[in-house]
Amino acid sequence: MLILGIETSCDETAASVVKDGKEILSNVVYSQMVHEKYGGVVPELASREHIRTLIPVFQSALDEAKISLGDIEGVAVTYGPGLVGSLLIGVSFAKAISYSLNIPLIGINHIEGHIFADFLENPKLSPPFVCLVISGGHSNLIYVADKGNYQLLGQTRDDAAGEAFDKVAKVLNLGYPGGPIIDKISEEGNANFFKFPRAYLEEGSLDFSFSGLKTSVAIMVSRLSEKELRKHRIDIAASFQEAVVDVLVEKGIKACQQRQTKKIALAGGVARNRRLRERFKQEAEKRHWDIFIPSPILCTDNAAMVASAGDFHLSRGESSSLDLNAVPYAPLTSSK
Ligand code: KG4
Ligand code: ZN
Repeated sequence: MLILGIETSCDETAASVVKDGKEILSNVVYSQMVHEKYGGVVPELASREHIRTLIPVFQSALDEAKISLGDIEGVAVTYGPGLVGSLLIGVSFAKAISYSLNIPLIGINHIEGHIFADFLENPKLSPPFVCLVISGGHSNLIYVADKGNYQLLGQTRDDAAGEAFDKVAKVLNLGYPGGPIIDKISEEGNANFFKFPRAYLEEGSLDFSFSGLKTSVAIMVSRLSEKELRKHRIDIAASFQEAVVDVLVEKGIKACQQRQTKKIALAGGVARNRRLRERFKQEAEKRHWDIFIPSPILCTDNAAMVASAGDFHLSRGESSSLDLNAVPYAPLTSSK
């Protein structure tokens, strides 16, 4: 089955063709750069960029896959969570494709899409396992009992992990998006320069909180002279990154212990972080656990993961009607 995936939940305009849920025939991602000068995603600009680029991105996905419009057998689209205006563009486009070609439509939860990046990358991955989905908009610990059967174990109470990277990069005047920049410069920095707070919250909690850490960096920066800041910018970035990584690793391990599984998977844009990938691999190796991390292109928002999740649902006979709507705060639910 050839499934077209469409993803427009935030600032990536993406289209992909996936065969039988496993084989990526094309995976086109246009990352919007208009937000750079604002230091964060501007929703209205994101919507306009999706309108401008979705059709060319879609056409490239067909061309790369070497198929024509009539070959598509189903269309999967992210319906939420995300920015409502951005979601609506992808959803409307997918509906038009579904209606005009008379092929099934399936709305996909964005978080479930990220989980399917792990299945796409690792065909041997089989549930149950714990998945840590970390990106600009969410930080979720999920128990994947089976494909389509999810239990939310923990989530952020304030900033998402990627949001903290982006905001701290702004405080340090590093540019946007902050995650990749902090990742890169931290290699040269001293991660023990300053011990920023780690919010582990109540005993046994698998929730996250990153806003205190972000504030702590901002306070430190405000107390430094320009000269001191210039000298220690890289050390502060590295120390901040280490604090985020410590919490993510510790909570990920705790979640596995609580659910008695020795399998952990990462997903989402922050899973591109090299220090995080390295630390998770070390911890898993030490315990003889299995760790699954998608390649960087499948961590970032993309439509291949959406198409793969769509293939799974369509093959179970599930589909959406043409009144599918964009749902900005869509919870991750289990299907039948
Ligand atoms: O999954 P994603 O592409 O979009 C959302 O669904 O949000 O994630 C984007 C987020 C941004 O906050 C970005 O700064 C962060 O992922 N990110 C990283 C890295 N690459 C992207 N954070 C830390 N280290 C990275 N290498
Ligand atoms: Zn995402």
